Amino acid sequence: MAEGTHSFPSDFVWGTATASYQIEGAWDQDGKGLSIWDVFTHDASLMQDKGASGDVACDSYNKYPEDIALMKDLGVSSYRMSLAWPRIIPDPISGEVNEKGVAFYNRVIDALLDAGIEPSVTLYHWDLPLVLEEKVGGWASEDIIPYFLKYADVCFDRFGDRVKFWITFNEPDIFIDHGYVLDWHAPGRADFKDIGPYPVSFNVVRAHGKAYRLYDEKYRPTQKGRIGITLNCDWSQPKDPSNPADVEARLRYFQIKIGLFTNPIFVNGDYPEELKERISSRSEPGKSRLPTFTEEEKAYLKGSSDFFGLNYYTTRLVASKPMEDTPGYLGDKSYEGQTDPSWPRAVSNWLYSVPWGLRKLLGTIKNDFGDPDIYITENGFTTQPGVLHDPDRIQYLREHLTELSKAINEDKCRVRGYYLWSLIDNFEWHQGYKERFGIYSIDFSDPARPRTPKDSVAFYRQVVQSGKV
Ligand code: NOJ
Repeated sequence: MAEGTHSFPSDFVWGTATASYQIEGAWDQDGKGLSIWDVFTHDASLMQDKGASGDVACDSYNKYPEDIALMKDLGVSSYRMSLAWPRIIPDPISGEVNEKGVAFYNRVIDALLDAGIEPSVTLYHWDLPLVLEEKVGGWASEDIIPYFLKYADVCFDRFGDRVKFWITFNEPDIFIDHGYVLDWHAPGRADFKDIGPYPVSFNVVRAHGKAYRLYDEKYRPTQKGRIGITLNCDWSQPKDPSNPADVEARLRYFQIKIGLFTNPIFVNGDYPEELKERISSRSEPGKSRLPTFTEEEKAYLKGSSDFFGLNYYTTRLVASKPMEDTPGYLGDKSYEGQTDPSWPRAVSNWLYSVPWGLRKLLGTIKNDFGDPDIYITENGFTTQPGVLHDPDRIQYLREHLTELSKAINEDKCRVRGYYLWSLIDNFEWHQGYKERFGIYSIDFSDPARPRTPKDSVAFYRQVVQSGKV
């Protein structure tokens, strides 16, 4: 495909994305409280990259002016960042606000605006205050919801005069699956392995809906911003489209991956009917493992996102794997996600480049979820540490942006913006620093954490500045 032939609307939002725990460091500075990730990494037993942590990370707590200068040079108009809850309210049980934490984010937000860059702010990108996990039960307990609302209220109140784009939760399916069903991520509990993620996602989706209503009623009239949620979804393609079992398996995959959120938020305030029936029939009589919303909950959940935030990285071929006799979550799924040997793989073992999957997924979001405004809130590719020549990342980005342009111009998907993950190499959760997503490289052995451009910087700058790929 010749370059320069795929264009984007003139008001398209170009951005880069990061998250607090992955870049800030300063884990115990200026009154910040502990998060579940601080203890998960310090214990290290469940980390793949032993000894890696976000204690210093990219030191963006101190080096944020440099990050902003890099973005200014790229020409992006927006920066997707997240707030560290334990920096703002170190002990949510006492509820006291840490003014130094608030002052830090005020400095970042003001410096962004001075540089002509709009902040897009995620409230929860996984760094839960430890106290809430230990004393309240984390997201497994519905008692956490009022604490989240208090935090959201403080953020809207303190930053909403300047922040006009809010995301409540980043990828709830991933932090629930990896932290409560598996033990890959903090809090490393895995006690929902058999029950499935349902009770946890029930709490998270209600916390989202209530935070949306809080903003809508108390802040939107004066602040006039937008608020939504970011969901991660691989495109799922039936392995054999002519086999009805694979087609059904693909639907189960989609409903379990994001239907727990998309259906209540974008469709009808409730879980998909097929899912309700399936989980109930596979639970003890009268005690479905999938909780039930009240009418009041359905009412505040329906329509509780001003846009669809999508993190797209990859695709799976979904094959039916009959496991109906297996009790619990595994049997609920009864599918297997596979890949195709022709798909180029990144350093991350789960990340295969499948650009057409993005276009298909965008079409499904348009058709199934009421043609919402869509923001690609993350998309990116990993290379090895230290690599500066990254033609495979450039190819991934070029091909995904080409498909995105077709989705906008030909399929009329209302995609309003794109955030590349990530501006800088950073702490990739349990993989630590082994896999690098940045378009700027960071040498994590150097205390100064120097930022060095990879080849993809020039590529992305050209796209952003020309509005074409
Ligand atoms: C999704 C997450 O939001 C982000 O934190 C993570 O680094 C990227 N995907 C890459 O895995």
